[in-house]
Amino acid sequence: MTYNSVSVTVEEAVALVFVDRPEKLNALNRETIKELGEALGELEEDPKVRAIILTGSGPKAFVAGADIAEFSEYSESEGRALAADGQRHLFDRIETLRTPVIAAVNGFALGGGLELAMACHFRVASTNAKMGLPEVSLGVIPGYGGTQRLPMLVGRGRAMEMILTGGMIKAEKALEYGLVNHVTDQDTLLEFCRSLAGQVAKNSPAAISSAIKAVNAGFSSSKPGFQAEIEAFGECFGTADFKEGTRAFLEKRAPDFPGA
Ligand code: COA
Repeated sequence: MTYNSVSVTVEEAVALVFVDRPEKLNALNRETIKELGEALGELEEDPKVRAIILTGSGPKAFVAGADIAEFSEYSESEGRALAADGQRHLFDRIETLRTPVIAAVNGFALGGGLELAMACHFRVASTNAKMGLPEVSLGVIPGYGGTQRLPMLVGRGRAMEMILTGGMIKAEKALEYGLVNHVTDQDTLLEFCRSLAGQVAKNSPAAISSAIKAVNAGFSSSKPGFQAEIEAFGECFGTADFKEGTRAFLEKRAPDFPGA
């Protein structure tokens, strides 16, 4: 299959999936989300593929977030649907994929980009990577599982700080937090991930998929949290702050939030 904004190569048992919109820092629009879901679903059905590496095209970004230009005019119900569809078709799907997915975080992983990396089974970052959930600076909250998966990975206090400040952390801090498992140079990131993927690929695919299921089952009580995130995300789209925040980003200026 060929895609517009995703590219896939398979080398022996390991597939490499690129989010491929470097001119927009690989921001996730609806097409990219749909294509990523389809590409990963197809790889999951390929018995030769035993591990997947997910990364971003270009030297700057893994994924710089959901595509702000696409959703800035959405209503509350469209906002809720955006989060619910994205979670179902891509983010939850990655988390429950039978084939393990390693995120190779090669630059900015912001908003939906960090949420994408967090939905993967584990993460490796290069030294230039910067991670954060800047949604509140736009008048919205994370809607692709970020309010749930970040506290699971780094703890509630660190997650609250990252979400409420909207700030970015560097790769070394992400390593200290346990958000990523390893940090490498930018030019050795994929080689390092290939070596990890190669180790995974030697193991029993049946046991691997059972292990993923078992680990995920331990976190399943957080499901109401994901639904609460979808509702709260949708509500943001009805606020004047959201209109101002997204307009300010697109006009390349600082926002002046009117407040609730
Ligand atoms: N949605 C839509 N477009 C985006 C985007 C996003 N999340 N992130 C980057 N882009 C676009 C920019 O608008 C710009 O497009 P243009 O060349 O047509 O103007 C292009 O990608 C390059 O980005 P630019 O901002 O010029 O790069 P930079 O190096 O100056 O800054 C970032 C990099 C990541 C700090 C900045 O792009 C940014 O803050 N992005 C948004 C991050 C965010 O809030 N994500 C959460 C969304 S919910």
